[in-house]
Amino acid sequence: MTDVKTFGDIKRPMYLLEEDSLRRNLSLINGVARRADVEIILAFKAYALWKTFPIFKAYINATTASSLYEAKLAYHEFGAQAHTFSPAYTDDEITDIARCSSHLTFNSWSQYVRYGDVARKENPSIQLGLRINPEYSEVETTLYNPCAPGTRFGITADKMPEVLPEDIQGLHCHCHCESGADVFQRTLAHIEAKFSPWFGQVKWINFGGGHLMTRSDYDVDLLVSLLNDFHKRYPHLHLILEPGSAFAWQTGVLVAQVADVVEDKGIRTAILNVSFTCHMPDCLEMPYMPTVRNAEQVTLDSTPDSKSQYVYRLGGNSCLSGDFMGSWLFNHELWIGENIIFEDMLHYTTVKTNMFNGVSHPAIGFVRSNGEMKILREYTYEDYKNRMD
Ligand SMILES: Cc1ncc(COP(=O)(O)O)c(C=O)c1O
Repeated sequence: MTDVKTFGDIKRPMYLLEEDSLRRNLSLINGVARRADVEIILAFKAYALWKTFPIFKAYINATTASSLYEAKLAYHEFGAQAHTFSPAYTDDEITDIARCSSHLTFNSWSQYVRYGDVARKENPSIQLGLRINPEYSEVETTLYNPCAPGTRFGITADKMPEVLPEDIQGLHCHCHCESGADVFQRTLAHIEAKFSPWFGQVKWINFGGGHLMTRSDYDVDLLVSLLNDFHKRYPHLHLILEPGSAFAWQTGVLVAQVADVVEDKGIRTAILNVSFTCHMPDCLEMPYMPTVRNAEQVTLDSTPDSKSQYVYRLGGNSCLSGDFMGSWLFNHELWIGENIIFEDMLHYTTVKTNMFNGVSHPAIGFVRSNGEMKILREYTYEDYKNRMD
């Protein structure tokens, strides 16, 4: 049994997935799928802890892949062919990808011309699609905006032929990131304005990921009514959403420990036995400030006497100078070995982590509904060594 509030019995770095939270998300997503008659599939790029797939299978039927390995994971571990989109397929991977995919979306005309027949020959029942670019996205961070000028993603309306090739059965459009239903409403108007002339020629449309329907302030009813209205306008179209984050949103924490406390120019840093760049990369990439349990995020300038108030920057254990974040105000002086708990660290972490500097990788634990904790994965020196010659 583990104490889920402080994780006091955990004394080493560990991601901890909580079954109850995962099931809460899955059941909300399943409810949207049923109410709006849409297919909602899991984007592996955000979450791919395959030992938990048996739980997912009670709520969803398929997944989406963005590469050969993700397509293989869908086929072999989830047990269903993937809806696959990759920015660019290659000669040496396309046949394996086609075999593992039920749907295959091409990012460009040249990719379709090069691989459309190859994919259908390998897998005659595969459904081919094209990624479209509506040239409208409210995602403000350029790193996550697939519609920014010069984007390498999707085909703009001016490059679409009036009549699509016969073997194109679907359209795929991804232009959200942690977005609300109101953003989808506005974006949908642009998608429709630009691409509705082709809707009559296809069977399905995939509205991509970024629909953060499990966030507490997300307007689920609005999403359902937008999708139902869309159905009324285009009853022949099968609708697909492929969120990733929404599945793993607030499903668990990263537990770390304080390894040392150092100070320079009045800035005190608690060095942890985890790293932002290795184990929480989106914090630096996005960038976004993680939430630390039982600590208040502060700016050093706004704290009059930061020294006496237990204000700490949190630093990672890699050699990257910028591997730190903060600052946070704790209610006591931090001690070596103390647990520092980063909230909401299950989406886009375990799939993106790396072994830079050879730093130890946190284990992955799973807290079952009955409170029992199971280790899904430990990482060892062999994992580091075997990635390289
Ligand atoms: C094509 C595509 N589909 C789905 C997703 C999943 O998005 P999210 O995890 O934000 O829901 C992404 C994220 O980048 C994506 O690029």
